[in-house]
Amino acid sequence: MLEVSGLTAGYGAQPVLHGVSLEVARNEFVAVIGANTAGKSTLLRAISGLLPQCSGRIAFEGEDLTRLKAHEIAGLGIAHVPEGRHVFADMTVEENLKMGAYSHANPAFAHHALERVYELFPRLKERRAQYAGSMSGGEQQMVAVGRGMMLEPKLLILDEPSLGLAPLVVEEMHQRFLDIHRSGVTVLLVEQNVSLALHSAERAYVMASGAIEIEGAARELLNDDRIRRAYLGI
Ligand SMILES: Nc1ncnc2c1ncn2[C@@H]1O[C@H](COP(=O)(O)OP(=O)(O)O)[C@@H](O)[C@H]1O
Ligand SMILES: [Mg+2]
Repeated sequence: MLEVSGLTAGYGAQPVLHGVSLEVARNEFVAVIGANTAGKSTLLRAISGLLPQCSGRIAFEGEDLTRLKAHEIAGLGIAHVPEGRHVFADMTVEENLKMGAYSHANPAFAHHALERVYELFPRLKERRAQYAGSMSGGEQQMVAVGRGMMLEPKLLILDEPSLGLAPLVVEEMHQRFLDIHRSGVTVLLVEQNVSLALHSAERAYVMASGAIEIEGAARELLNDDRIRRAYLGI
């Protein structure tokens, strides 16, 4: 479904990514792990069309993404939930969610998406009229994920959704990601919680210094000595 090959990208003259290749099959759940500043967010931004400097190939369902603008990429069914959530604090939960339908292929049908988001996160339905800025970190993350789901995406890209959240909230959030995946959405997850990432995903890539260092089945990576030592502290 998604094919990245030989991707070199960054923000200025010096690239951050050096020839990254990665594939995500339809209905797969793939994780990208790696230390801070490895280039994980940069990779996700390149896929979503948020970086000016890109060379190499990024294809989604056979279509070349490198020439498309971010809203056009969203329109193809790729939802990107950014690191740090970025909810609109002065807007209500429901207003935030509706912003997510902006690039929906058919905005008139976005109310179906809203019902689906409220099923996924009943808490958001209870708090639909509350200002997003007044909610807890976990609830704001639900808003951010819900806003992505308003696109009824084929591919959901999640950047560090557990950052700064309490362990129980993180666990709950991952259950929802598994629900989303089971409902037929392909998931590409960047996650600092390596153990959780490898328990949720089917396959994973390890990034270091802007390149893919290791890739494999998540179960195998959980038993890989390099990963156990570097990321799991075992
Ligand atoms: N907006 C930006 N402008 C310039 N450099 C950036 C920007 N965002 C990230 N970088 C640089 O790109 C590198 C990779 O960062 P990032 O992709 O955020 O890593 P990760 O998500 O793995 O922590 C870092 O060296 C970082 O300083
Ligand atoms: Mg990041």
